[in-house]
Amino acid sequence: SAEREPVGVIGTGYVGLVTAVGFAELGSDVVCVDIDAEKIARLNRGEIPIYEPGLAELVEKNRERLTFTTDISVALDRARLLFVAVGTPPTYSGDADLSAVHAVVGAMPASDRHALVMKSTVPVGTGEAIKRVFAEQGKSGFRYVSCPEFLKEGTAVSDFLAPDRVVVGDDGDWAGDAVVELYRPLLVPDEGGNGPGQLVRTDIASAEMVKLASNAFLATKISFINEIANVCEETGADVVEVARGMGLDERIGPKFLNAGIGFGGSCFPKDVTALKQLAGNSGYHFQLLNSVIEVNELQKRRVIGKLEKHLGTLIGKRIALLGLAFKPNTDDMREASSLVLSARLQAAGAEVTAFDPIASEIAAPMLRGVTLADDAITAARGADAVVLVTEWQEFRDLDLAELRSVMAGDVLIDGRNALDGDAAASAGLRYEGIGRRALTAEPGRPVSTVAGA
Ligand code: UDX
Repeated sequence: SAEREPVGVIGTGYVGLVTAVGFAELGSDVVCVDIDAEKIARLNRGEIPIYEPGLAELVEKNRERLTFTTDISVALDRARLLFVAVGTPPTYSGDADLSAVHAVVGAMPASDRHALVMKSTVPVGTGEAIKRVFAEQGKSGFRYVSCPEFLKEGTAVSDFLAPDRVVVGDDGDWAGDAVVELYRPLLVPDEGGNGPGQLVRTDIASAEMVKLASNAFLATKISFINEIANVCEETGADVVEVARGMGLDERIGPKFLNAGIGFGGSCFPKDVTALKQLAGNSGYHFQLLNSVIEVNELQKRRVIGKLEKHLGTLIGKRIALLGLAFKPNTDDMREASSLVLSARLQAAGAEVTAFDPIASEIAAPMLRGVTLADDAITAARGADAVVLVTEWQEFRDLDLAELRSVMAGDVLIDGRNALDGDAAASAGLRYEGIGRRALTAEPGRPVSTVAGA
């Protein structure tokens, strides 16, 4: 292939590393910069600081093209485009904390040759604000491009290499053109590539909004189906059947209609709040998003009510949690439903055991008082109830008869509607999902668990 543009990537978290390795895989030399010297040292030893399927292999394969350094001038020397992938965590007020972004902006020299390409999720208006800062600091030659990232943890590498869309927001200058060129191979044939990516080239503010609005919409879809699930529980409908019926309408689509115990992760809770705050700061009250957040908070707690319905008081009861990470195939514990759930259970007097295939080590310091087991069956041993929190494949494959045989009680709450309820009931378990009828030990015989019954 033709000579590929070298790039710099500032920040070696999930987004930064995946972006760096993705561009290296497409043929670019990539300089990765991070202020965390320890992290850079690890990367230079070939260690990958995060768990992400396929990432380690791709780093290894592209080792020659990757440079890891704490020295930003190495990136400035070798590359025109500096992708910014630093954290923008929520502050106490719910607004995004842009201090890491501003530190990067401040570290840029006056240059007519460079551009910042923003990958971090930032409030709408950030690009224009940064351009003003550049102007004030006499760096108005520095270009700015918004290029939001839509990767999902667990499938981040393949999401990068096979994007639904590539959004480039810029001022119609060389920098925007160069970013489009970098992504060209991943774009649809009409755009000169051989991938699935549709190109959306637009202005900076619109690109910033695409990201926030997409995440807020997906979060809304989840809170919506969760509320439908809650109504299903009151009315005897089955949310899985309902979602199947709804999803066949092309305008609705089948994805992100899985009811459960709420969304977590580094993006949805943060971005929904950030968009709500952004609207509020500009004088607009974004009503819908308040509910999306509130429904999600309540959804994490509804499991407590289900357990109390089956067990009576939770004082002294032993509850086993299967899965801790905010979703399968990641070790990420940010905003994981397991955190709220385990704390609530302990507050209600229960003894909590838990197992996660990958996240246990990271979760341990966050789960004071929770006994972590080495496998699902050990976690369930002696438990009055088991709650499926994260739908790892190995839990879908669990031998439910064995699970039942090691438990003291017979209650199985499926917080992700991931298990076969009939199989659970046949194994002698009292099975209850989210938004579905509960099943008892008599196969196929639904029992009414309508609240108050
Ligand atoms: C998300 C977006 O999907 C991605 O485009 C963006 O760039 C970052 O945020 P991610 O945080 O990795 O990605 O997780 P995702 O797979 O979207 O799941 C988010 C949460 O929603 C998880 O807690 C998951 O369990 C929950 N979820 C998802 C549901 O409860 N129901 C669903 O139907 C789908």
